[in-house]
Amino acid sequence: MNILITGHAGFIGTHLTKKLINNGHNVRGLDNYSASKKLNLKQLKEIKGDIKNQKTVEKAAEGCDIIFHLAAQSSVPKSTKNIDEDFQTNTKGTLNILKTAIKKDIEIINTSTSTVYGPTNKTPTPENEPLKPISPYGASKASAEMYCNALHNTHNLNIKTLRLYNVYGPKNKKGVMWDFFNKLTKNPNKLKILGTGKQEKDYIYIKDTIDAFIKTWKNGEPGETYNVGTGKTLTVNQIAKKITDLMNINPKYTYTGGKSWKGDIEKTQADTTKLRQIGWKPQTTANQGIKKTYNWYQKTQNTSQTN
Ligand SMILES: NC(=O)c1ccc[n+]([C@@H]2O[C@H](COP(=O)([O-])OP(=O)(O)OC[C@H]3O[C@@H](n4cnc5c(N)ncnc54)[C@H](O)[C@@H]3O)[C@@H](O)[C@H]2O)c1
Repeated sequence: MNILITGHAGFIGTHLTKKLINNGHNVRGLDNYSASKKLNLKQLKEIKGDIKNQKTVEKAAEGCDIIFHLAAQSSVPKSTKNIDEDFQTNTKGTLNILKTAIKKDIEIINTSTSTVYGPTNKTPTPENEPLKPISPYGASKASAEMYCNALHNTHNLNIKTLRLYNVYGPKNKKGVMWDFFNKLTKNPNKLKILGTGKQEKDYIYIKDTIDAFIKTWKNGEPGETYNVGTGKTLTVNQIAKKITDLMNINPKYTYTGGKSWKGDIEKTQADTTKLRQIGWKPQTTANQGIKKTYNWYQKTQNTSQTN
């Protein structure tokens, strides 16, 4: 298959790109590298360009059978600081991808987020729960989803959407684990935790996330949306304990208290029934995943490896 991955050089995109190349596909990537660097893989055609530009998207998608759309402004805090940029990239940029796919009859896998639900009382959360985002990022991703569903209906767009929970693993240079690894490497005696430490979220390992992309592509129903999480939760305090155990240290914890950041959702947990029905199951336990992530982090420290 000829495949275009938008945002191929980001955390999840890098893993997906490698997986699809290994599976024998012709892969090209479109990224403006605003949050990443070129991958420089021999088997990959890398296009530097912005999804906000319709012509760029059309050119990049020429001759493709499928687009995995991952490019996004992916940070909740940044979305509160630059609302326009977040909207232009996540909503308008996605609309450019959808229009291109309609024009050229290309299938799409769209990447959304659990953030679209907002602080729901219903956990585990099924996909048909109303969307009540409380951050610009949640709103721009939810709006993008609305266009996916609308154009599936009016233009027969062949699209499937994944709502990812907190994805973690090697190459992720953001989020709570990256924050803790860095702080504890600098000073193993204390750890400053954002918020109360009681935030409770569904953390899904990168390999299981990539499997969800592949399973949805192969077995999913056009027009459908699938949660991607473990269905289990970890508190931030539990993550801190697992990491400090791995590092064999016993730091003093301090808390900033309140919310970790504006727009944060303090409890997330996926109902993954739909994804399991199409043959997916997470394979990695939290202990295994966090250990692998820490091993990668240590390597980056020893070799000042950037990717
Ligand atoms: N990582 C997670 O836990 C998580 C959770 C839920 C949803 N998601 C979604 O998954 C997708 C991938 O996330 P990630 O963690 O790999 O993010 P990331 O920030 O690491 O990667 C996003 C990539 O998109 C590129 N990009 C940004 N704006 C662009 C533009 N205008 N044109 C072209 N490229 C652009 C960036 O340079 C980057 O390489 C995103 O859509 C994100 O919203 C991620």
